[in-house]
Amino acid sequence: MRYSNQQIHQIRSRLAAGTSMVHALEQVPIMFTEELAQLHSQVRYELVGAGRTLAPLLENPATTDVLVNGINGVWVDQGNGLEAVQVDDPQLQSDGGVRALAVRLAASCGQRLDDASPIVDGTFPSGIRLHAVLPPLSAQGTLISLRTHRSKVLTVSELVASGSIHPELEKYICAMVENRANIIISGATGAGKTTFLNAVLSLVPSDQRILIIEESAELAPMHPHIVHLQVRHANVQGVGEISMSELVRAAMRMRPDRIVLGECRGAEVRDVLSALNTGHEGGWATIHANSAQDVPARLVALGALAGMNEATVAAQASSALDAVIHVKREGRRRFVAQVSGMERIGGELVCVEALSVSADQKELWRGSGIAKLEARLGVSEVWG
Ligand SMILES: Nc1ncnc2c1ncn2[C@@H]1O[C@H](COP(=O)(O)OP(=O)(O)OP(=O)(O)O)[C@@H](O)[C@H]1O
Ligand SMILES: [Mg+2]
Repeated sequence: MRYSNQQIHQIRSRLAAGTSMVHALEQVPIMFTEELAQLHSQVRYELVGAGRTLAPLLENPATTDVLVNGINGVWVDQGNGLEAVQVDDPQLQSDGGVRALAVRLAASCGQRLDDASPIVDGTFPSGIRLHAVLPPLSAQGTLISLRTHRSKVLTVSELVASGSIHPELEKYICAMVENRANIIISGATGAGKTTFLNAVLSLVPSDQRILIIEESAELAPMHPHIVHLQVRHANVQGVGEISMSELVRAAMRMRPDRIVLGECRGAEVRDVLSALNTGHEGGWATIHANSAQDVPARLVALGALAGMNEATVAAQASSALDAVIHVKREGRRRFVAQVSGMERIGGELVCVEALSVSADQKELWRGSGIAKLEARLGVSEVWG
């Protein structure tokens, strides 16, 4: 239902006479019609949200990713791979509109996006992760990538119940947390590394202080004592950058019980390995790798960025890391596929399979690394 012209006239005159909006509406029946509610959400989306096309996609609990390729299309992943979205939103049909949207989204994450700083990586207070790139770095206009996260952190038990963690693996995962093992979570893009790490960190006893270092604060485990450190990019004059490496070193002096690296992707690998080798046990990190067997090569490549040779990375990683947990996405399923140990064999760093699980969770295999893993976790005698 709408206000009649006469009612609108009354409201206008009261406002013109200096009456507040509340009083101006006092004697007029306020009708919350469906239209008014729609108008309200539309205005909200346009002013503070992701716009009228993207916001409803992000609100859908099935959505994991929303991608805007300039004016060339919007894509959404709702569990069935990427699907094109029909767009009739003028904002997404002009280069200027998409760019303005990206700049507004970046500002909502407290970040700057302009020609001097054309790439942004940020997180909204709601936990949604934003990445945006401006032209000419992107040849197709402004590119926006949004990654959703459930508002409620999934627990390890919920991941077991939903078939993402084999029940047999749960006790190893709990033992890793309890025994302060140092673990790397590996997986391809979007495989579920951050989600799994959130669940695991929620198991850490509440009297321990967890220091999380990230590019932009994304992890939000259910834990009462979390401290976040975020990298700072250089300013317009090219100064003021604070790298992950510096943050890892700073973190060690902040009385952490656990040091967690959201994602290890550069020279900070040297500082993390040295922290884990010098008494800061119980650390967790994630790394991009297509399989657990690729993790050693990836660590060696990252170590090279920090001037470490292969032998040094192998020596440090094999003594610092107790296991690699590999998460995998196969179609709609995201699950923990493998747990491996890290060993140095003939001077080379290798992953030795301890436990592997099939995608349907029906089968679990034990590999040659199981004895060492169980010994480290102190569980062989109990479960032997
Ligand atoms: N086990 C799971 N069950 C249901 N949804 C999941 C599961 N794991 C991850 N997801 C969803 O899949 C999406 C990708 O997950 P996540 O961000 O954890 O992956 P990632 O490996 O950290 O990605 P990236 O490589 O981009 O950092 C998210 O929307 C998340 O909510
Ligand atoms: Mg992640």
